[in-house]
Amino acid sequence: MNIESQTGAVTCERRGKILVVTIDNAPVNALNSAVRRGLTEAIEKAESDDQVEAVMLIGAGRNFIGGADIREFGKPSLPPTLPEVCNRIEACSKPVVAAIHGAALGGGLEVALAAHYRLAVAGAKLGLPEVELGLLPGAGGTQRTPRLIGVRAALDLMTTGCRVDAKQARELGLVDRVPASEDTLAEGLAYTQELLALKARPRRTCDAAGLADKAAAAAELEAAHNSILGNTRGLVSPLKIVEAVRAALEHSFEEGLRIERKLFLECMESSQRAGLVHAFMAERDVWKLPETRQAAPRRIDQVGIVGGGTMGAGIAVAVLDAGLPVVMIERDEASLARGRANIEKVYDRLVERGRMSADAKATVMARWSGSTRYESLAEVDLVIEAVFEDIAIKQEVFAQFDRVLKPGATLATNTSYLDIDALAATTSRPQDVIGLHFFSPANIMKLLEIVVPSKASAEVVATAFELAKKLRKVPVRAGVCDGFIGNRILAVYRAAADAMMEDGASPWQIDKALRDFGFAMGPFQVTDLAGGDIGWATRKRRAVTRDPEDRYVQIGDRLCERGWFGQKTGRGYYVYASGSREGTPDPEVEAIIDEERRRAGVTPRDFSDDEIIRRYMAAMINEGANVVHEGIALRPLDVDVAFVHGYGFPRFRGGPMKYADTVGLGSVLDDIRRFANEDPRFWRPSPLLVELVERGADFASLNQHA
Ligand code: 3HC
Ligand code: NAI
Repeated sequence: MNIESQTGAVTCERRGKILVVTIDNAPVNALNSAVRRGLTEAIEKAESDDQVEAVMLIGAGRNFIGGADIREFGKPSLPPTLPEVCNRIEACSKPVVAAIHGAALGGGLEVALAAHYRLAVAGAKLGLPEVELGLLPGAGGTQRTPRLIGVRAALDLMTTGCRVDAKQARELGLVDRVPASEDTLAEGLAYTQELLALKARPRRTCDAAGLADKAAAAAELEAAHNSILGNTRGLVSPLKIVEAVRAALEHSFEEGLRIERKLFLECMESSQRAGLVHAFMAERDVWKLPETRQAAPRRIDQVGIVGGGTMGAGIAVAVLDAGLPVVMIERDEASLARGRANIEKVYDRLVERGRMSADAKATVMARWSGSTRYESLAEVDLVIEAVFEDIAIKQEVFAQFDRVLKPGATLATNTSYLDIDALAATTSRPQDVIGLHFFSPANIMKLLEIVVPSKASAEVVATAFELAKKLRKVPVRAGVCDGFIGNRILAVYRAAADAMMEDGASPWQIDKALRDFGFAMGPFQVTDLAGGDIGWATRKRRAVTRDPEDRYVQIGDRLCERGWFGQKTGRGYYVYASGSREGTPDPEVEAIIDEERRRAGVTPRDFSDDEIIRRYMAAMINEGANVVHEGIALRPLDVDVAFVHGYGFPRFRGGPMKYADTVGLGSVLDDIRRFANEDPRFWRPSPLLVELVERGADFASLNQHA
C-alpha cells in the first residue's frame, strides 16, 4: 500500500493493481471544482500508470457523493464541467468501479453511472433529485439512465426525485451488486479484484441496451409524458427532463448530451431553480441560531400532552410516531377517552388503507398512557399544553405544571395567539417556558414555530429544536407577538384579500389567481377547510382593540352568522355537495357580498389576476418585513420557510421574501405606495423595506448576516 498522490479534495492510493480514488469533501463530498479536477487527474493517473489495472471510486465520510455543489450554482463555473468529468471516467481504458455507501445523489449518481461497474452497500441512497431544485440531471444522467434501466424507470427517478435503497437499485439495474457486509472499502476492493480476475473490460453505460427497442421506448415516453403533463405542480423542469430523454431516443449519445446540457443551462438560469435552491438552503439555515450554538439540548425521553382535542391528538400522533412515550392529561375520563379515540382514528385509517398493520398500531398505542391527574406528569421531560385558547385556563394548567413537573423539565404551550411572556411570568420557572406552535393537522404539517419568550433559556430553545428534529418537523424560531410569524402575516394579507373581495373581485377569482401563482389553495378555500368559526372567534376577540378608523370587511362575519363555517357545515364561501371537499361558487354568497358592498358604499370594479397577486403579495411581503424589522423573525429566510411549510406558499418561488427579491424590492414598495393612495392606514410601507430600497439592498443580504 502506498500513497500515490493527493489532489485537493480527491486522494489516490494504490492498493496492488487497484487505484483507490477517494472523494473527500466534507460534509457530503459535493462535486465542486476541486473535486471535479481531482477526479479527472485521478483517471489520467490511472491511464498513465502501468501498475494500475483498475480504478475504484469511493466516498470518504458518510456518503459517496451528495451531488453537484449547490453553492456554486449561479456563479461562473470553473473547468472541467461535470459532464466532461463523467465522460472522462466512462472513456477510461481500465475498468472503473463505483463503491457506493450513503448518498449517491444527482451528480453523485451520474458519476457512478459513468463508472463501468457499481456496487452499493445496504443503507445507500441513490437518486436523481435535481427536479427538486428546478433542474434536470445535467451530467449525462438523462442519457445514461434510460440506456441502463429503461425509459419508464429512468423518468420515474428523474421526475419524482425519489431515492431508492441498494436493494431497489439492484432490482432496477442501477447497480450490479449489493454485498453482504457494509464495509464499502473491503467489498469494493473484493469486487474489483474479482472483475480483474475475470479479465473484465470497461463496460460503458453509453453502450447499454435499454433503448434498443425503439418503438417500446417511444411508447413508454409518450405515456409518461402525458401523466407528467398533468402533474408538474407548476414546475418547468419535469417537462425538460422528458425532452432530454426524448433526445436520448432520437439522437446519438453525443448529440443527446449536447441537448441535455442546453436544457440544463436553461433550468439553471430560471427563477424556479433559484427559488428551490433558496428553499433547500433556508431549510438548513433555520437550525442555525444563537441559542443552538450556545447550549446543548436537554434529554427528551418522555413527553406529556395536555388536551386531547384536534391539536393535542395530532401532536400526540407526531410524538408517538417518533418513538417517544406520551402521557396525555384531560379534564375528565370522558374527554380522555375522546382524546385516545382521536389518536386511534388516525392509525385506524392507516390500517384500513393497508399502510399499517394492526400489530404496529398496537405497538404504537402501547406507548400512550392517559390520566386526569397532573401528578402523572412527574417523570416527563417536556410537556405541551393544547387546551382551549383561553389565557385563564392556560394559566391554571401552567400552575399545575409548576407544581408537579420535575426541575429542568420544559414547559411548552401550543397557543396560536396568546402572550407567552405573560404566561411564563405566572410560573416560578419562566426560563423553562416556550411556545411550540404546531399546525393542523399536527401529525402531517411540517412547520413548527418555536416561539421564544424573553426569559427562555438557550437550553430550552435548543431542546425545542431537538424535539423538532425527533418529530421530523421544520422548525422556525419566532418571537412573541400576536400571531407570531405566520398568523400575524396571514392576518394582513387575508385583510388585503377581503378588501379586494369587497372592492369587486369574487372569492373564486381571487382563489384561482393564487392557485395559478402556485399556492396549494386560495385564502377563501383555506378558510372553508379550516373552519370559518376559528377566524371569526379571533376577529371578535380583536374587535375591542380594533381602531374604528381601520377598514373592516364584514362579509366573513355575515357568513358565520348564518352558521356557514365551510366544509364542515356544507357551505362557507363555497357550497359543498354532501361529503364533497370540492366547493362550487355560491350565488347566495355573491348576493351577500353585493349587499355588503352596498352597505359599505363601494362601487365594485374589475381586478386583473395580476393586480390580485400584486396586492396579496405586497401585503404579505410588507408584514414579513415588519416581522423581521421587529426581530420576531431572525432573518427573512425564517419567514420564507414558515410560509413554504405552513401556508402552502409555492416552494419554487422560495418564499415571500425570496419572491420579493426576485421581482425587486423597489417595485414592491412602489406598489405599496400606490395602494396607499386608496387606503393609507392599511398600506404603510415597512421601515425595513424602505431602508433596503434606499440602500439598494435586498432581503438576501440580511440572510447572509445571520
Ligand atoms: N452541494 C453543496 N452543499 C450540500 C449539498 C450539495 N449538493 N448537499 C448538502 N449540502 C450541505 C447542506 O447545505 C448542509 O450544509 P450546512 O451544514 O452548512 O447546513 C450540509 O451539506 C449537510 O446537509 P444535510 O443537513 O442535508 O445532511 P444530511 O446528512 O441530512 O443529508 C444529503 C445529506 C442526503 C446528501 C442531503 O444533503 C441532500 O439530499 N443533498 C442534496 C442532494 C441533491 O439534491 N443533489 C443534487 C444536486 S444538483 C446536481 O447534482 C446537478 C447535476 O445533475 C449536474
Ligand atoms: P380543541 O377544543 O379541539 O381541544 C382542546 C382540548 O383541551 C379539549 O379536548 C378539552 O377537553 C381539553 N381541555 C380543556 N381544558 C382542559 C384542562 N384544564 N385540562 C386538560 N384538558 C383540557 O382545541 P384545539 O383546536 O385542539 O386547540 C388547542 C390549542 O391549540 C389552542 O390553544 C389553539 O389556539 C391551539 N392551536 C389550534 C390550531 C387549530 O388549527 N385548531 C392550530 C394551532 C394551534
